[in-house]
Amino acid sequence: MTSAFSAFLHHVAAFTVFACAVLSLVLLQLKFDLRIAKQLQLTDMVNGIAATLVLLVGMIRVFYSEKGADYYFNNVPFLAKMTLYGLASILSIVPTLEIFRWKKTLNQGQLPVVSDTKVGQLRAVAIGQVLCILGMMLCASLAARGIGSMG
Ligand code: HEM
Repeated sequence: MTSAFSAFLHHVAAFTVFACAVLSLVLLQLKFDLRIAKQLQLTDMVNGIAATLVLLVGMIRVFYSEKGADYYFNNVPFLAKMTLYGLASILSIVPTLEIFRWKKTLNQGQLPVVSDTKVGQLRAVAIGQVLCILGMMLCASLAARGIGSMG
């Protein structure tokens, strides 16, 4: 039961993280205005919550509800998945800091000044995050089936 429920929560959080990355990418293709800026702010917040949840539930699964920590820490795809998670987290610092900078201006109902270069950078980060998450999904499927286990 714990296993099924944690698997459910893990999937919900993981799909939310993926949806947020794709949504950011779509929003960043549109004309940057107040509505888009606020939607990007909301997406970044939801992404932060879902990424924290996927990590917490993932840790519960590693240590308590699945095959045990020894299994996962001796599995190459799982270690690759953790590396990709770290990379995606580092990438997410870029939009989070930029969006934090907008906070005061947005609260005053004004549009923050964002250069085309910055928008391009945010798009590149969103693409990087989508790729990391796809990689994590592949690694998760391999790890779950014992592919790439050492020893
Ligand atoms: C955005 C990040 C993540 C995504 C997209 C993701 C995706 C997935 C998916 C799709 C599965 C199901 C695999 C299958 O049954 O075929 C899975 C399982 C799992 N994930 Fe994640 N995951 C993420 C982050 C994490 C993190 C951070 C941890 C650990 C701290 C973790 C630990 C696990 C564990 C233990 C399983 C169960 C594998 C098994 O059935 O043996 N995941 N993940």
